[in-house]
Amino acid sequence: MIRIFELKNIISIKDFERKDIDYILEEASKLEKIAKSKEVCEELKGKILGLMFFEPSTRTRMSFETAIKRLGGDGIGFENSGSSSVSKGESIADTAKMFEGYCDALVIRHELEGVSKFISDIVDVPVINAGDGAGQHPTQTLLDLYTIKKEIGEIDNLNIALIGDLKYGRTVHSLSNALGLYKNVTIYLVSPPELKMPNEVFHDINKTNVTWKEVETIEEIIDDVDVLYVTRIQKERFGDIDDYLKIKGAYVVNKKMLEGKDLIVMHPLPRIDEIDTDVDDTKYNKYFTQAANAVPVRMAILKTLIKNNPK
Ligand code: NCD
Repeated sequence: MIRIFELKNIISIKDFERKDIDYILEEASKLEKIAKSKEVCEELKGKILGLMFFEPSTRTRMSFETAIKRLGGDGIGFENSGSSSVSKGESIADTAKMFEGYCDALVIRHELEGVSKFISDIVDVPVINAGDGAGQHPTQTLLDLYTIKKEIGEIDNLNIALIGDLKYGRTVHSLSNALGLYKNVTIYLVSPPELKMPNEVFHDINKTNVTWKEVETIEEIIDDVDVLYVTRIQKERFGDIDDYLKIKGAYVVNKKMLEGKDLIVMHPLPRIDEIDTDVDDTKYNKYFTQAANAVPVRMAILKTLIKNNPK
């Protein structure tokens, strides 16, 4: 079947239909050989990717940079507002327009929701949201889905537990939205009462066939799930540090609780203390594979957007 991918920008996973996700996941599996063999191809030879990271990032920025380089292109950009002219008072709009002059696509991370959308409205090159505040992180969701499909074989018919900071965690917001496109999915939401999934996300998932249930302990659901998707408490988004300290360490997944279970453990990383390191050497650990899968998935995204939207 010939598939067509029509999105020019990747701002929210809510803009995706299932066929769009299928397209990117198929492209990613075709590119996986190059990603893993550490080769370079010429698909995007001479193309420049702009990496505008106003907020810290390790995996997302490095995997986008690796992805463009493996496709034969290159990346330019900054890692925090302090190292860009924004620190001299330049507006985000001016910075973005200047980057547009140098680049074939822009990747944006910012602590405020809506910044990638704003930039996509004022530049002509494709814009990719690499995380906007507590909003969305659509490319993380694509690599999460890629990992689930590769490890379990399908995304339909799964029971998935989302654990930790469901209030501020943008990865779980995007993932919940995406799971709404699949059949017979149950989501268990495991969080302290203070960090429950926001109403907007419930509003969206209630429009889909997803069944969801809020619980307070991992023990209640561990025998029923195929995936434990663990997240860190988003310390930087708390107004009052004491509120963070009260909740810190609320959930810890360890090797003992996983023994005999038929499931995988995922985490967008960085991990603080929510997965004990004794899980690292078990068959349950898929979080490092998940991080490595970022490269073929982001290669697929860049190849598709830049080829479909030549400058
Ligand atoms: C996540 C993020 O930035 O939202 N990290 C990532 O991109 N892999 C998760 C997090 O910071 O907790």
